[in-house]
Amino acid sequence: MTQLPDRDPDTTPLAQVVVFASQKGGSGKTTVSAHLAVEAERAGAGPVALIDTDPQGSMAKWWNARAADTPAFAHISVPDLARDIEALSAAGYKLIVIDTPPAITSAISEIVSHADLVVLPTRPSPHDLRAVGPTVDIVQHQNKPLVFVVNSATARARITGETAIALSQHGTVAPVTLHHRVDFAASMIDGRTVGEANPGGRSAAEISQLWAYFDERLSRLRGDTARLIDHPLTTFDDDILTPVPKALAQLKQSGERAAAAAVEHALKPPETPPAADPGSHRFGDVTGQWDGVERRREDTGPPPGKPDRRASAARPAFGKRFSA
Ligand SMILES: Nc1ncnc2c1ncn2[C@@H]1O[C@H](COP(=O)(O)OP(=O)(O)O)[C@@H](O)[C@H]1O
Ligand SMILES: [Mg+2]
Repeated sequence: MTQLPDRDPDTTPLAQVVVFASQKGGSGKTTVSAHLAVEAERAGAGPVALIDTDPQGSMAKWWNARAADTPAFAHISVPDLARDIEALSAAGYKLIVIDTPPAITSAISEIVSHADLVVLPTRPSPHDLRAVGPTVDIVQHQNKPLVFVVNSATARARITGETAIALSQHGTVAPVTLHHRVDFAASMIDGRTVGEANPGGRSAAEISQLWAYFDERLSRLRGDTARLIDHPLTTFDDDILTPVPKALAQLKQSGERAAAAAVEHALKPPETPPAADPGSHRFGDVTGQWDGVERRREDTGPPPGKPDRRASAARPAFGKRFSA
């Protein structure tokens, strides 16, 4: 890109730039950036351009293995980033997603300087938590909005919540956690996403919810008030505490019935175990079902045919052996 195309700032705004950064390798920069780029394009927030600034080129390899031709892949070099963001914006791109190497270098700092939003994926592990500091410093030094995404979490593990609390001391934590599932790793191998490989799965629902959150953050950052009036602030009630049912409702609304049925199947609670034999309950209400309250059983005396040895002459005094 040698000739800078003219961009009329009144009609063609600069594309928003989301940079994925983390000093820790394997935290999910490439996986989460590729997934969000595809989801953004699918949700109509595109055209989206991807930029891989990691010399390892994992994002480029994923893109080359990809059959679909969106999102676009832009070959750029870091020193030309400002010019190329201009050029991509002039060409109509609305969102630019940049993957970075796991490093703390002046190049990372330079890339972050072009970001509208920085995303820092973190696995819920002490190693990952210890490594966030230097990346957070770079981002805060440049006064850029930062969002942590807890990635590769184990279902119901206590450390997931603890990670979110630890991260919240340094910035915003995305309200959607990505869990550890093989489909995240498997889909990346053949150039797809979890949504493309398994549209009804839980991983796909997490990615749509995560994008919905970023979509809102990005509209606020660009001051898109018209859009914010159409889509008022998401509420804890229906978006954050129960993200999957909302994604399900959206799937149904958009007529994706097979996907909705698959999500419903995945969400079905496990079969209730058969009621235990009431006789085996030590405590319980009259129906023999455990009702959460412990009660002393009524004293029904000694077992049939056995002498009552309590307070009997056979046991005359405390602490004394009684002879048979
Ligand atoms: N949520 C997840 N569940 C399962 N595997 C994951 C998940 N996120 C990432 N991975 C896998 O972990 C490895 C590292 O992820 P990657 O996105 O390449 O990290 P980074 O780009 O930060 O080094 C990859 O093999 C990827 O497939
Ligand atoms: Mg990577």
